[in-house]
Amino acid sequence: MTAADTVMIPVDRLTAAQARDELARLAAGIRHHDELYYQNDAPEISDADYDALKRRNGEIEARFPDLVLPDSPSKRVGVEPAAGFAKVRHAAPMLSLDNAFGEEDVRDFFEGVRRFIKELKDDPTIPIEAVAEPKIDGLSASLRYEDGEFVQGATRGDGTEGEEITANLRTLKDIPQKLTGAGWPGVLEVRGEVYMSRPDFFALNERQEAAGEKVFANPRNAAAGSLRQLDPKITETRPLRFFAYSWGQMSRPIDGSQWAVLQRFRDWGFSTNPLARLCASVEDVLALYGEVAAQRATLDYDIDGVVYKLNRLDWQARMGSSSRAPRWAIAHKFPAEQAQTILEKIDIQVGRTGALTPVARLKPVTVGGVVVSNATLHNEDEIARKDVREGDTVIIQRAGDVIPQVVAVVTEKRPADSGPFEFPHECPICGSNAIREPGEAARRCTGGLICRAQAVERLKHFVSRNAFDIEGFGKKHIEAFWQDGLIKTPGDIFRLRARRDEIAAREGWGEQSADNLLAAIEDRREIGLDRFIYALGIRQVGSSTARLLAKTYLSLAAWRAAMDRAADPEGEDHADLIAIDGIGPAMAADIAGFFAEDHNRKIMDDLAGDLGGKVTGELTVTDFAAPATDGSPIAGKTVVFTGTLETMTRGEAKARAEALGAKVAGSVSAKTDYLVAGPGAGSKAKKAAELGVATLTEQEWLDLIGQA
Ligand code: IVH
Repeated sequence: MTAADTVMIPVDRLTAAQARDELARLAAGIRHHDELYYQNDAPEISDADYDALKRRNGEIEARFPDLVLPDSPSKRVGVEPAAGFAKVRHAAPMLSLDNAFGEEDVRDFFEGVRRFIKELKDDPTIPIEAVAEPKIDGLSASLRYEDGEFVQGATRGDGTEGEEITANLRTLKDIPQKLTGAGWPGVLEVRGEVYMSRPDFFALNERQEAAGEKVFANPRNAAAGSLRQLDPKITETRPLRFFAYSWGQMSRPIDGSQWAVLQRFRDWGFSTNPLARLCASVEDVLALYGEVAAQRATLDYDIDGVVYKLNRLDWQARMGSSSRAPRWAIAHKFPAEQAQTILEKIDIQVGRTGALTPVARLKPVTVGGVVVSNATLHNEDEIARKDVREGDTVIIQRAGDVIPQVVAVVTEKRPADSGPFEFPHECPICGSNAIREPGEAARRCTGGLICRAQAVERLKHFVSRNAFDIEGFGKKHIEAFWQDGLIKTPGDIFRLRARRDEIAAREGWGEQSADNLLAAIEDRREIGLDRFIYALGIRQVGSSTARLLAKTYLSLAAWRAAMDRAADPEGEDHADLIAIDGIGPAMAADIAGFFAEDHNRKIMDDLAGDLGGKVTGELTVTDFAAPATDGSPIAGKTVVFTGTLETMTRGEAKARAEALGAKVAGSVSAKTDYLVAGPGAGSKAKKAAELGVATLTEQEWLDLIGQA
C-alpha cells in the first residue's frame, strides 16, 4: 500500500467511521513497510511515499484525536532496533587478558600463582604446568551449542553484552554446525578467535580494489569488517577461520585440564592452534615463546604474543578472575614494532576532561602492517623530555591496539632552523586559560562546558559503546547538534523526540533516519547503573571501575548518597570507597571533584531524577544485577580478612568470598559484617570488637560458606 493507492478523501471531509478504517489500514501498512525496511533491508516503497503515509496518518489523528490507536505509528519511534545486530548478554562474561611485556612479567605471573595457591606456596617443588599458545590477532567469538547443535554465535562486545552474529558465523568452515564425536555437555559455549589468513587478506584486498571497494588496513580489520556484514552472503565470500581456545557457559564441567579440553575441542570438530604446547614450567613457556617468535614472520596469520594458561582447571577456578581478566592466564606480548618518519606538525586536542593532549601528525609510514599517520605525545612534559620538535625525524612504535607512540627523536636528522615546541597556555578551541594543577601531568582547559571540545567530547563519551551505546549517533552528528543547540547536555539527548521534525528536516536527514536515531535513543531510556556511571565520564573512572562502583553500591541513589558523603576524607564513606580493591585515594579525589561541581549534579538530576525517590529525570537507571550467587550465605555481605590463614592464602580467600557475592574490604568499619581473623590478628580484631562486628575463625568462616 502506498499513499497513491489509497482513495484519498481530503482529511477534513472524512467521517469518523472512514477515519477509523483508514487509521487501521495505515497502521498495518506502515508496520509492513517498517519491517521490510528495518528487518529485511528491502523496502518496497520510496522514502517519500513512506513519509506521505506517515503524514496522512498524523493529519487524520490530529482531526480525530479520540481515534488514535494504541499502537499507532505516530507513537512508535521506528519499530525494531535500528538496523543492525541484536544484542546478546553473555551467560559468562568474555574477559580480556592481562599482559606481560617481558620475561620478568612472566616470572612474576608464575610467582604470583605460587603465592596464591597455598599448597604451591608450601611446597616449591610442585611444578606449575601451563598451556602456551599463540595469541591470535583477530576477534573473539562465543559459539553456543545446545545438544550438540550450533544455536547462537556472538561477538565479545563489551564483555558482558555482544552482538548476535549467528548467521555470519555459520558461514565459517572451521565452525561445526553439529558437534562430532561424543561427550559434550548439553549446553556448551566454545570461545575462540575469528581471523583471516594473510594470503586470504591480500587476495581480498586485490578483489576489493579491482571492484573499487574499500581496502582493509590489516587482516584483523578485514576479519572484523567481514564478520560485521549485515548480509551473511557477503561474509560467506570472505575466507574467515576460527581457532577454539576457551569456553563460556557449560551445563556440566569438562573433565581434565586445559590441555585435555583442547583435545576434546578437536574431537568435537574444532580447529585448535597447532603450535599450542603443554609446558612444565616457566622456563618451558619462555622457550616456547622464543620458538613462536622465531616463526612469527612465516606463519600465515597474524599473532601478537603467546598466551599462557594454568593447565589445572581447579587452580584456574581457585585463582578466579577480576572484572577485567582471569588471574590464571597472561598474554606475553611481542615487543612493539618501530619505524622512522617525519613529524610534520604537533596538534593539540582537547579531551572531555579538558586535558590538552599533543598529537604528532606524521608523514604516513607502515609499522607492523598498519599505516600510521598520527601518534600520541602524551603531555607537555613528555614533549620537553624528549625535546620533540616540528620537522623532526622521529622513531615511532606501535603495539597491538595501543595508540602509536613517539619513542625518540633522531637528533642527527634535525633541521638546522628548528626550535623547541611551545606548549600553549590557552585552549586552542575556546581560548580559555589552560592551567596545570600541582602534581598533574595534564594542562587543562578551564572553559568547562562552554568549551566546544569538552562539551562535545563528553557527549561523545556518553553515547559511546561502553556507555549508552546509542547506535548511529556518531561524532559528526553530535558536533552538529551541539553547534545548532539541539543538545547541550546529556539529558537533551532524551528530549530530542520532541524535536523529531526539526531533525528530519535537517540536511542529510529525513523522516526515516530521524526515526532511527530516536528509536536508538528510546532503546536506552533504561540503563544499568554500571553503564550510567561510566557514561558520566568521571576522570579515571573507566568501564571496570564503574562496574566496581555499581557492584558495591548497587543503586544510583545509594551510590550518589555515599559519594556525597565520601567527599569528607576523614569520614567512613571515604574509607569504604578506598577500601574497594581497585579504587585508590587519587580516584576517590577525582570522584569527589566530580560531585563537587554543580553542573555535574545537575546533569545527574536531569537524567535520573532526584534522590527523594521522586523520579523527575529522563531515564530509569536499573540497580546493578549482582551475579547469580543465590543461596550464598555471604552474598552482599562485607568481609575483612586479617591475621594468618591456614588453609588458603589471603588472595584466594578474597577471590572465593567475591565469587560468592561478598565484598572484601581492607579495613573494619560499622559496615563490616564479618571479620575473619587468623592467628596474629591485631588492631582490626580490636576495632571489630569495639564496633560489635562478628569475628570468625578461619574454620567458622569455612563452615559458614560451606567449603570446609
Ligand atoms: S584465552 C578468559 N587464548 O586476546 C580469556 N585469548 O587480549 C581467555 N586471544 O579477549 C582468552 N588468542 O580475544 C586466549 N590463544 C588465545 C588467544 C586469545 C587471542 C584474544 C582474546 C582475548 C584477547 C585479550
